[in-house]
Amino acid sequence: MEKKLPVTIDGREFQALPGQTILEVARQNGIYIPTLCYFPMTTPVGACRVCVVEVAGAKNLVASCAMPVSPGMIIKTDTERVREARKLVVELLWASGDHNCLMCESNGRCELQDLIYWLKIEKPRFDIKPPGYPIETTNTMIMRDLNKCVLCGRCIRACNEVQVNEVLDFYMRGSRMKVGPAFDSDYKNSICVFCGECMESCPTGAIINKQGRFAGRPWELQKVRTTCGYCGVGCQLDLNVHEGKVVKITSNKEYGPPNDGSLCVKGRFAADFIDHPDRLRTPLIREKGKLREASWDEALDVIAKKLASIRKKHGADSIAGLSSARCTNEENYLFQKVLRAVIGTNNVDHCARL
Ligand code: FES
Repeated sequence: MEKKLPVTIDGREFQALPGQTILEVARQNGIYIPTLCYFPMTTPVGACRVCVVEVAGAKNLVASCAMPVSPGMIIKTDTERVREARKLVVELLWASGDHNCLMCESNGRCELQDLIYWLKIEKPRFDIKPPGYPIETTNTMIMRDLNKCVLCGRCIRACNEVQVNEVLDFYMRGSRMKVGPAFDSDYKNSICVFCGECMESCPTGAIINKQGRFAGRPWELQKVRTTCGYCGVGCQLDLNVHEGKVVKITSNKEYGPPNDGSLCVKGRFAADFIDHPDRLRTPLIREKGKLREASWDEALDVIAKKLASIRKKHGADSIAGLSSARCTNEENYLFQKVLRAVIGTNNVDHCARL
């Protein structure tokens, strides 16, 4: 059995596992420590210092997200010194960006906004000129406003460690530090594949879904969990519905496998077919070279009659069926069953991906 490490947090004793961080032990035991740069499933970097705590014997405050526990550690998560340090960090982040919540798409789901409220900061003490970066709008899916970036690096780790696309990194130094693709290029002219992992990991409104802009505030959107229909992997996602329309797609790490909150460009952004005016909504039957709308019963009758006549004339093996990755396993099972048991051929295949 793995050896447990006794630690004391806020006067209560807990048994921690070797390798667990202070933050993990605290969260596991219902003790709240705020975070910002911490992003599960990626390397803890201890960059923002929002999660600092006091550890007995340590000269400086310690970033709880990156500090593993050691036996006998005595930790305090809510002292005056801790609160002041967190407040200072958050005030500096607020003051050094252009955080206009009124027009920000992330208003209501912004972790910086939540921290400001939780720490009861009415106004930052500092007057720092925002950087004035141009807003990146050169692609149809992701919009970037680096004036709202808090340099937490979550997008970089999401891109490099979760999706392993290695598009993003920090560049420049000091107050001119930015996040982006190589050579300060926009996403469109980089090797970005538009998986949107950076957007999903962003704690503020710096990287947002352009398709969902002005389509509804976060609290107005109804999230409907579903399985992505694009291929056979079965990724879990949320349709964000407003006034009966799907306005954007988001993912949720809590849904777990198979995608653990990640999506590809199609799953994340290609939902406009749902309400597209060109979408086929009824079967079409071609007559004298022209397509006309038909009912399902009528269309299925035509298919059955034509297949029966081909089989009679040329034999069952003159017919083949190609199924789709967009169908469920059950639908694909039934499809091959029709080909094998009803038509009498083994000519059945499937497109593995779209
Ligand atoms: Fe721990 Fe940022 S959350 S340092």
